[in-house]
Amino acid sequence: MAIKLGIIGYGGMAHWHRESGLKNVPGFEVIGVYDVDPAKIEEARSQGMIGYSKLEDMLANPDINLCLVATPNQVHKELTIAALNAGKNVVCEKPVTLTVKDLDEMIAASERNHKLFTVHQNRRWDADYLVAKQVFDSGVLGDVFTIQSRLHGTGGIMHGWRALPECGGGMVYDWGVHFIDQICNMVPGKITDISADLHSVKNLLVDDYFMTQLKFDTGVQVMIEIGTFLLKPTPRWYLAGNAGTCQLDDFSGVKGGITKVSKLAELIPPVIVNTPAGPTRTFAPQPPETLEQLPLPSFSGGWSDFYKNVDAAIEGKEELIVKPWQVRRVLGVLEKIFESAKTGHSVKYE
Ligand SMILES: NC(=O)c1ccc[n+]([C@@H]2O[C@H](COP(=O)([O-])OP(=O)(O)OC[C@H]3O[C@@H](n4cnc5c(N)ncnc54)[C@H](O)[C@@H]3O)[C@@H](O)[C@H]2O)c1
Repeated sequence: MAIKLGIIGYGGMAHWHRESGLKNVPGFEVIGVYDVDPAKIEEARSQGMIGYSKLEDMLANPDINLCLVATPNQVHKELTIAALNAGKNVVCEKPVTLTVKDLDEMIAASERNHKLFTVHQNRRWDADYLVAKQVFDSGVLGDVFTIQSRLHGTGGIMHGWRALPECGGGMVYDWGVHFIDQICNMVPGKITDISADLHSVKNLLVDDYFMTQLKFDTGVQVMIEIGTFLLKPTPRWYLAGNAGTCQLDDFSGVKGGITKVSKLAELIPPVIVNTPAGPTRTFAPQPPETLEQLPLPSFSGGWSDFYKNVDAAIEGKEELIVKPWQVRRVLGVLEKIFESAKTGHSVKYE
């Protein structure tokens, strides 16, 4: 069954879905657009789609088999439930909504209406993430004990509704939801403890810097740091195990590498070396001849794999990849991040 899409909210991201995300899905068509902004409705009409000024009129169109909800975050819930109740399958943009309680109502609407409901967690198909996950899964690093996932930007200011708390603005909802979704799909086990610190560095009302630490019952600890005003770059990923270390410099998935120490190191007796940190044996650099530099694994796939899976899942040919219970787990982490930042204590989770 080819995707016949109805878009709810024709802003920046909806344009990406239409022009890029759906491009590789055979037979897709965007039938109509509903938006509260008349200019967006006119734009849709000028592009050959039906422009709707009333949501119920678009939902009454029997040709539409999937709705995309791509509005500001605070209205995702009501629009998703309306589309599900009208018998449409729904892709909702991230963050799915602002609380687990609201998400439960969305999941209930999907189950009640027997319609597919998923969330555009497209960063599961990012190059850097696909490489980091392969490195983690391969065991090349031995027992991984720490993972650091970071995004540092320099612009500082968050724009429009993203700067308003009542719209679900702030970096935890905007990017945090992606990075936590990635970690939840990479690291096995339960998340036992969550601690977090939030700051409003350049924006008055919402968090534009946060750092969170997630502890898994397997012993892995994960640090996620996202800041809009950090003027020196740091690597996108840093993974360390008892057999090696991996660094990914940026989102490309090709810059960085894996370093291991060869068996030769065991034969060389440790000696005290004068370093910029002072004389040290433990922190002395490994002799270069004992170091092994391994290439990063290659990756395949991209963001449009999300829609290929949605298409196949609607037809019953594939299992849905971004499952509502996974999204619920991630949103639960977000709630604990806010709780920890407010109380100043680490919070128990699963
Ligand atoms: N997955 C990703 O990588 C990614 C990237 C960017 C944005 N997003 C998400 O996409 C969503 C939209 O973000 P954006 O950047 O496109 O925002 P935007 O402000 O560019 O567009 C939002 C559109 O929704 C319309 N709108 C507002 N309230 C509405 C309502 N009640 N009913 C119908 N239309 C309404 C606005 O008029 C506007 O056209 C957000 O949830 C955001 O978090 C996801």
